[in-house]
Amino acid sequence: MGSSSAQALKSKAPAMAALEVKGLTRRYGARKAVDALDLHVTEGSVYGFLGPNGAGKTTAMRCILGLIGSDAGQVAIFGDSHPVRRRKHVGALVETPRFYEWMTGRANLEIAADYADVPASRVPEALARVGLQDRAEDKVQGYSLGMKQRLGIARALLARPRLLLLDEPTNGLDPQGMKYVRDLILELAERDAITIFISSHLLYEIQAVATRVGIIQQGRLIAEGDVKELLAGGQALEVEVGSPDKATLLETVADWPEVDHLGPGEDGEVFTLTGLDEAGLNRRLVEAGVPVSRLISRGRTLEDLFLALTDGEIT
Ligand SMILES: Nc1ncnc2c1ncn2[C@@H]1O[C@H](COP(=O)(O)OP(=O)(O)OP(=O)(O)O)[C@@H](O)[C@H]1O
Ligand SMILES: [Mg+2]
Repeated sequence: MGSSSAQALKSKAPAMAALEVKGLTRRYGARKAVDALDLHVTEGSVYGFLGPNGAGKTTAMRCILGLIGSDAGQVAIFGDSHPVRRRKHVGALVETPRFYEWMTGRANLEIAADYADVPASRVPEALARVGLQDRAEDKVQGYSLGMKQRLGIARALLARPRLLLLDEPTNGLDPQGMKYVRDLILELAERDAITIFISSHLLYEIQAVATRVGIIQQGRLIAEGDVKELLAGGQALEVEVGSPDKATLLETVADWPEVDHLGPGEDGEVFTLTGLDEAGLNRRLVEAGVPVSRLISRGRTLEDLFLALTDGEIT
């Protein structure tokens, strides 16, 4: 698929934006880590900022927060584009949070509260919000990675932000830890009405929480929109054929709207086809005499979409 279909998937800018990014560009030497990036994060949404390793997610988030400068573009947070002042409404966790390891979780948050100029009385509330109240008096050096991530989220919540920026908050966590963070995100969005901007390279994980996504690759936005809208392209069919039959399959489905090679499966090569129906595919395969070892139908995923937009090149 070319850029025209990527263009078609970008939906119109919504009226109210918690975060609005226009033409953001950040270079490292000759390389553009972020390249003319436009983002529209609607207030109240859980926005998944997706892209493979090195796509520019962390760099973009640092620019948004004003932690590093940008070479071009504008950023507005709740309408405020001042490079420092716009951070007033934002809580952030960028990459792995750092703490004073020899101090307790509570002491770390008290220092952060002092820096952020918020009362220390908010610390217990923030710790409870991430389920760390019982470990508050333990030194951070004894915390698991998941607990440190949660402490980082608690720190980001201290100033009671309207927008929370989380950079890969589930990176390195076990499935239980991932689920904890996912549930926490949903709760913060629903109960506390916080707009959440969360980056990840794990598309399936974001699909479980995000209402809106932006997908970037090599610093450029390749799709943005409401998850429901983006995935409304119908079902995806997953087909596995023996390696010698690969060419015949590709010939048979040459006019199919989207055909992506997923890679080797258990008995051959696995492809996903999106945009047409299972019965139609079955009929064609029988007519062409392509033996299929597996044909399953499932809802389209963000991963299918991503593969379709990038012609299967993830890196
Ligand atoms: N300080 C830096 N100096 C030079 N190049 C950098 C620097 N930081 C990032 N880059 C480059 O910018 C590009 C984007 O990196 P970035 O860390 O923003 O990606 P990312 O999407 O956050 O990746 P990941 O999923 O691995 O965290 C990469 O090519 C990276 O090598
Ligand atoms: Mg990163």
